[in-house]
Amino acid sequence: MKTWTKEERYRVLKSEEEIRELHARTETSDYRQHYHIQPVTGLLNDPNGFVFHDGVWHLFYQWCPWGAVHGLKYWYHTVSRDLVTWKNMGVCIRPDTEYDNKGAYSGSALPMKDSVLLYYTGNHRDEDWTRKSYTCAVDLMDGGTARKLPPLFGPNPDYTEHQRDPKIIYRPESGKYYLVIGAQTRMKKGCVMIYVSEQPTEGWRFAGQLKVPGFEDFGDMWECPSIETISGYDVLIFCPQHLKLPGRGDSVHHNGYLLGHMDWGTLTFTPDNTRFHVLDFGFDSYAAECAANPNDRNKATLVAWMGLPDASYPTDEEDWSGCLTLPRELRVRDRRLIQQPLDELRALRGRKIDLEYTDLLPRVCELELISRGGDLDLRLFAKDDGADGLCIEYNDAKREITVDRSRLTRRFNTEQGESRTRPLPKGLSHLRIFIDKSSVEIFVNDGDAVFSSRVFPVEREERIVVNGDASVHLWELSRAVEDDFKVE
Ligand code: FRU
Repeated sequence: MKTWTKEERYRVLKSEEEIRELHARTETSDYRQHYHIQPVTGLLNDPNGFVFHDGVWHLFYQWCPWGAVHGLKYWYHTVSRDLVTWKNMGVCIRPDTEYDNKGAYSGSALPMKDSVLLYYTGNHRDEDWTRKSYTCAVDLMDGGTARKLPPLFGPNPDYTEHQRDPKIIYRPESGKYYLVIGAQTRMKKGCVMIYVSEQPTEGWRFAGQLKVPGFEDFGDMWECPSIETISGYDVLIFCPQHLKLPGRGDSVHHNGYLLGHMDWGTLTFTPDNTRFHVLDFGFDSYAAECAANPNDRNKATLVAWMGLPDASYPTDEEDWSGCLTLPRELRVRDRRLIQQPLDELRALRGRKIDLEYTDLLPRVCELELISRGGDLDLRLFAKDDGADGLCIEYNDAKREITVDRSRLTRRFNTEQGESRTRPLPKGLSHLRIFIDKSSVEIFVNDGDAVFSSRVFPVEREERIVVNGDASVHLWELSRAVEDDFKVE
């Protein structure tokens, strides 16, 4: 495995010529995705600034150009009209000022009349590597040219150096703008700082720390927090770090949410109960970001990084890493968040495969399974004799579903646990599974649970096995992201 010096990781990208060859090599990888957003070169992590403006969806990602390493971060810009086909637009925010000299870190977007405002964390480091976080803004004029504004405010001295990931929220009832920022208290507890202003680009002041009764000691840093209002509920979404949760192996990075009520007057989020719900039951999901649905206030659209901090992936050897999940429609049902694939994705369906005649699994496909009851044993990427593969099992007596990736040839991040189980008290009725070149997203019972995972099947892992009383439909899917090289 390559070891990186600090100079290599934090090298500034001066021209796209410097990575043209790296891109050409990346493109030849067998694991390049066909309909998931992935980095042009190097590493992708969090989705940022997801917003609909003037007929166009904008979605950015945290990008380190040089290889599969967390180094100097840029905001890379992609756009779509339908949330299915995506176009590369090039770099949008460069870490080129004193305030963001070691990275333009994660943040969010606010649609304005003629422009989009982007809010991000300027990750500044002094010569002695002391970190200082600045909350910065960019005006994306006509959805295109980016103009940096003077930083909105600097680090808050009452918290540790871990302060980042501003989420902008406008509250029409008070006419106020809020920035919700992930932070760590001096006692090393994860929390959320809230800033307020009457104007989106000036007048910002610290309003206080978000009170979340019952969650005062829940991980040591909360990354990527956000407060969404969906179907009349307030939802606090965040990534508590360095915390172990039952059923999640040794993993210490989670992305989840609390359902409850947000009082912007007292800055208190009162959860409905003491349950922290995991957003995604798979192995690879983090830093989810939501965009408001322009047509329906009861819904939002969520996208996440299909990866985890401090984890390595098989494509690291090929010098690239990471992709985003599919955008999902988010609603509240039975006091839970429901995530469903967007209807628009049906447009990608191509040839229908009849499993009566073949057990070869196309490498890029969608599978729909309707269960008639009882146990299910579904294996994707099984070997020629039908053994092994990615095992998806439903046990009807226990009423639980398990996804196990320990029987694939390429195993990775094994210490995070190789199997994940989720109870299904009402049984299993329906699965929709989206398979791309190196990922599988499993939507259970119309969005009741989602499992998102990276998988890296090798040559002879290409069969599908279905044991159980179910009807299965399978479609090839066509390409929706271009592997075109656009940086500047
Ligand atoms: C989460 C995170 C954020 C930070 C960004 C840096 O994955 O660590 O807190 O802004 O990634 O790339």
